[in-house]
Amino acid sequence: MQKITIAIDGFSSTGKSTVAKQLAKHLGYVYVDTGAMYRAVTLFTMQQGFIDETHFDVNGLVEKLGDIHITFKFNPTLGFAEVYLNGVNVEKEIRTLEVSSYVSKVAAIPEVRYQLVKQQQQMGKDKGVVMDGRDIGTVVFPYAELKLFMTASAEKRAKRRYEELIERGDEVHYEDVLRNVQERDYIDSNREDSPLVQADDAVAIDNSDLTLEAQFTKILNLVEMTF
Ligand code: C5P
Repeated sequence: MQKITIAIDGFSSTGKSTVAKQLAKHLGYVYVDTGAMYRAVTLFTMQQGFIDETHFDVNGLVEKLGDIHITFKFNPTLGFAEVYLNGVNVEKEIRTLEVSSYVSKVAAIPEVRYQLVKQQQQMGKDKGVVMDGRDIGTVVFPYAELKLFMTASAEKRAKRRYEELIERGDEVHYEDVLRNVQERDYIDSNREDSPLVQADDAVAIDNSDLTLEAQFTKILNLVEMTF
């Protein structure tokens, strides 16, 4: 069967990665979590001391961009690919609230975006890919055959994220998670380079009140209609 490109964009914690993984598994496609790539660059930025609560040395980061190598390796036990920063598995470290609190600032830097978008386009050049992020249908693959734009209320999204973090054993407060979700939405939507916007030809899915099964069925119908 002919392979297509599926671009999934939307606000933070709208369940993009859950549905992207379901779709990739069902279709036998590659799943690429571009948020994990921006998170890995952010972890590097923190490790180098370029960002903290009081400062962000953008030039320092830009000079070191050539030292950042991000790769994915499929983990058969988990059933999806984990992200590696310079050969080290950072899947757990990149999901902390601390990384989340800096990632949108790092992702707003044009040089960072240029490098990651290039790599993402390379990863999806043969189609048969489900990629999720903020600019996939608008910048990375503007000609994707199917574009989805996921939304849900900020409170519902923060609750899901909070439960995920608690389940992992992180000590977080719901109010801090909600604030982070709202802050990232704002920065991601208002940055100059590749802001988060719904592509004209994207199908919007509000999953505030959809079960995972109902959402998957709905999206699978959309996939089938593109063939
Ligand atoms: O998808 P996730 O919430 O893990 O993404 C983390 C952050 O990475 C987003 O809040 C956004 O700032 C940035 N991002 C981006 N472009 C993408 C994917 C993620 O700017 N394609």
